[in-house]
Amino acid sequence: MPPMTFATTPHLVSPISGRTPRIIQGGMGVAVSSYELANAVAQTGEMGVVSGTALDVVLARRLQNGDFNGDIRRALAAFPDQEMAQNIQKTFYRENGRSDKPTYRPATKLSLVPAKKTWELLAVSAFVEVWLAKEGHEGLIGINLLEKIQLSTLGTLYGAMLAGVDAVLMGAGIPAEIPGALNKFQNNEEAALDIDVAGSTINYKMTFDPKTLGPILPAPLKRPFFIAIITTHVLAMHLSKNPATKPDGFVVERPDAGGHNAPPRGRVEYNEEGEPIYGARDEVDYEKLRAVGLPFWMAGGYSVPEKLLEAKDLGACGIQVGSLFAASNESGILRELKDELLADLLDTEFKVKTDAKASPTGFPFKVAAVQNTIAKQEVYEARPRLCDLGYLREPFEREPNTLSYRCSAEPVDAFLDKGGDISETVGRKCLCNGLLATVGMGQIRPDGYEEPVLVTFGSDLKGPRELIKIHPKGWSVQNVVDFLSSKV
Ligand SMILES: Cc1cc2nc3c(=O)[nH]c(=O)nc-3n(C[C@H](O)[C@H](O)[C@H](O)COP(=O)(O)O)c2cc1C
Repeated sequence: MPPMTFATTPHLVSPISGRTPRIIQGGMGVAVSSYELANAVAQTGEMGVVSGTALDVVLARRLQNGDFNGDIRRALAAFPDQEMAQNIQKTFYRENGRSDKPTYRPATKLSLVPAKKTWELLAVSAFVEVWLAKEGHEGLIGINLLEKIQLSTLGTLYGAMLAGVDAVLMGAGIPAEIPGALNKFQNNEEAALDIDVAGSTINYKMTFDPKTLGPILPAPLKRPFFIAIITTHVLAMHLSKNPATKPDGFVVERPDAGGHNAPPRGRVEYNEEGEPIYGARDEVDYEKLRAVGLPFWMAGGYSVPEKLLEAKDLGACGIQVGSLFAASNESGILRELKDELLADLLDTEFKVKTDAKASPTGFPFKVAAVQNTIAKQEVYEARPRLCDLGYLREPFEREPNTLSYRCSAEPVDAFLDKGGDISETVGRKCLCNGLLATVGMGQIRPDGYEEPVLVTFGSDLKGPRELIKIHPKGWSVQNVVDFLSSKV
């Protein structure tokens, strides 16, 4: 197929490589695609992406961990409103880290009408992550957000734009309102999002006006390139029909991808291991996708050089890759856990499960069977349920204009008291605590209980297994980019 040209692509050109990235490093929460990882990828001339999930807690915990290399305080010192940034530093920074006090401060849970301090922490934390990812080079940096986590979206987007983020990538739902919000924030104007509320009898909106943060605001801000993460051509066609919802491009993510996956379309059937089975309705019609006329990247199982060529033949600009980067030296996953994961790759029995029950979102979620993590039944059962972070809480209406919040991984009685259905609690895992533990920010409760780790990874292990043979001691971002580009 002749190379496709897109009217909008010049907007997304890396000054380092002088071209549109053919590899996007996928956004991986929580803090797996940390600023260090994204920074390293951007320097290769491809695009690095920081995870935008739970950045408020990530910033607060990095400061409580002692910020020993000074990165976080250096980025805070670059924030346009120093009073705001220094207040946050004063609140959370512990010079000696967790040595004297292993338990992290409790986090403020998000809600429909957050306090000013919550907006500040959301905006400042996104600024810090993007600023550090962009530090020291001219390459491209994106931020990844999940449509399912709505209550932090506006504050995070705004903070990322203050730091000059080049792209916003968003999936796990239908991100129809994001192009509009980016247009508003460009001029420091108020933006709004419809919020999904279970049992709602009225419409609920969340609004954020940057001016409420104070007179800090350089404008106009750069309008980032917006990439919707979708699974098939169907949503591409739907979103691009209306100028208000039309993104600038797409990542088309197939079911092998790590993290959350969209459920199969239509009536869902499961294999004997309880994994959802994808069928003909989940296939991509590439002719229809190309006819939309927007640039796209393929994701999920594009882990070897031949797959990059295949994606290009399909008309894609390239691929988005997660797992290979998650296992790289620069990712946020704890070193000892990464080494265990790399050793597991050599075991032919090692498997990543598409767990239909684990995520409180109800979406399938990939769980890697790493030892001593919550993937193991005995570790799961030993964990006393607790919801102290609450990013995946679902708002529900008690009466018009009175909302409460519930999570199907919280203590079962509490969930039932809030009108939740017991069937939804079965097999649910606390993703918030598990994923933070994976990157060395796990809570140690006052009674000494340590939150167990939860590792998500893609189910296509071909690329990781090839790379471990070439680099038995582990690999770097540059190794991944060289490997994937070796046949281009
Ligand atoms: C550890 C991990 C965490 C992930 N977290 C997210 C996330 O927070 N948001 C998102 O849109 N995708 C997430 N993904 C998906 C990646 O961005 C990427 O699209 C996917 O991993 C590509 O498939 P691959 O793993 O086969 O390369 C995650 C993937 C991994 C491996």
